[in-house]
Amino acid sequence: MDRLIRADGLEVARGLPDGSLDFVYLDPPFGAGRTHATLRGRGNRGALAGRRAYADPGTDGAPSPWLTALLGEMPRLLRPGGAIILHLDWRTVHRAKVLLDDLLGAENFLNEIIWHYATGGIPGRWFARKHDTLLYYRNGGEHHFERMTIKKYLAHRMSRRGLPEYRDEGGWYRYRSLDDVWEIPWLTQDAKERTGYPSQKPEALLERILRATTRVGDLVADFCVGSGTTAAVARRLGRAWLAVDREPLAIDVTRARLDAMTMRAPMLAGLGDEPLRAYQFEDRLEPSLAPGKELP
Ligand SMILES: C[S@@+](CC[C@H](N)C(=O)[O-])C[C@H]1O[C@@H](n2cnc3c(N)ncnc32)[C@H](O)[C@@H]1O
Repeated sequence: MDRLIRADGLEVARGLPDGSLDFVYLDPPFGAGRTHATLRGRGNRGALAGRRAYADPGTDGAPSPWLTALLGEMPRLLRPGGAIILHLDWRTVHRAKVLLDDLLGAENFLNEIIWHYATGGIPGRWFARKHDTLLYYRNGGEHHFERMTIKKYLAHRMSRRGLPEYRDEGGWYRYRSLDDVWEIPWLTQDAKERTGYPSQKPEALLERILRATTRVGDLVADFCVGSGTTAAVARRLGRAWLAVDREPLAIDVTRARLDAMTMRAPMLAGLGDEPLRAYQFEDRLEPSLAPGKELP
């Protein structure tokens, strides 16, 4: 049964059986040294805007003790051939890579994926920091990987080289293999999927990750799911999932997002996505709500 749990992610991880996970995506607080609040935008112009979302204590370059302990569970939790993508930025990624080399073995490092985007301000005294870094490791063994292609638009037709070229409203394009530098736009203020939760990642990013690294039915876990992007995409793609966050707002936003998917399910049917399954919600931080509650 797919599960959304309000709890400390590390406590949930410690309670899971050995080798129980096929894939983990982690997008923890980056160490920005501030408390993040909800953003204005589509679907979030009213009472939600400006609400406290989550604390993000500063860092001296080291991953937080919580993240360090959580990563320490990965060799035990991932099945052999299972994999993790850890999503960080310039603040701690260098130290996290050394840590993962130690935990999972440098020989099991697969990619450093650069997610490049254009958003935010332009500093005057250094180059604008416009990418996040995603570290992709396997837990030894044979990992699953689905090679992907993406459209590359051409300035002009070059058919003389013999590679097939196609045309749509954006112009002429070819397909090329997806490499480790990804251009995916940040969610705009009026993006349909935008919830207003800070640091919400685009579904296009998680869709790429999950399609490339997992199969239908694989169990995907996210121990700091925020607005629920991993759960929503895993659910749409027919992956089994376990999603955890300790913040009530993250859980409210994720539940609203998953329940809206359930309402739209008849309309999604037949569009190539997997049938939506029911999921279970559990609140481990509110004893009065503790017994798992079945949701549609
Ligand atoms: C960067 S956000 C995740 C954003 C998410 N990927 C999305 O697309 O919305 C980091 C999340 O980690 C959660 N978090 C921080 N410490 C946690 C802990 N000890 N246990 C569970 N979740 C935690 C925060 O509440 C926050 O929602």
